Amino acid sequence: MKEIDVIEYIPQIITEMKQGILLTTKDGDKANAMTIGWGQIGIEWRKLVFTAYVRHGRYTHEILEKTKEFTISIPIERSPEAAKAIAYCGSRTGRDIEKLKDCNLTLVDGVEVKSPAIKEIPLTLECKVIYQQEQDHDRIPAVFREMFYPQAIPSDEPRANRDFHTVYYGEIVNAYILE
Ligand SMILES: Cc1cc2nc3c(=O)[nH]c(=O)nc-3n(C[C@H](O)[C@H](O)[C@H](O)COP(=O)(O)O)c2cc1C
Repeated sequence: MKEIDVIEYIPQIITEMKQGILLTTKDGDKANAMTIGWGQIGIEWRKLVFTAYVRHGRYTHEILEKTKEFTISIPIERSPEAAKAIAYCGSRTGRDIEKLKDCNLTLVDGVEVKSPAIKEIPLTLECKVIYQQEQDHDRIPAVFREMFYPQAIPSDEPRANRDFHTVYYGEIVNAYILE
């Protein structure tokens, strides 16, 4: 495990996030990862913060509401194994399955948080939620509201994305690359 200065890795993290990275939570013994493509790294209240956007309907949302902590896992090189896991975790809910086990990923205990790191997707940010905010749909420009929150699509259809996002501000309490 090599500790890193997150700021040096921001370009790499944002570049990888455009293709999808993992946000992992842990509820009791069960770890669950979802793919995320939206997020920021920045500074607020003198803290280094990773900001994630999680729709209300995600299983991850339910867990974050309980545990208020998560890890972010970013590939260093997008191996076929990492790419497959990121696609899998972005297309299935972990409510009834164990996505990380299905992908044969090696979990490593978090240091400052209960959520694990992932050996095969080694650049890791451990985050504790210090603030959260609901998006105000009346302030979202109509063009984005229609594009990203189409209310016309029934919730049980695969393309359904009706739910708005909770924005979670995770203080980055530890950052490293698993070796
Ligand atoms: C490339 C990609 C990026 C995604 N980004 C987000 C995101 O930023 N926020 C979100 O709520 N869902 C996002 N999703 C959808 C979730 O990953 C997906 O709904 C997942 O099945 C949720 O898992 P869960 O129910 O186990 O939490 C993304 C999916 C993909 C494939």
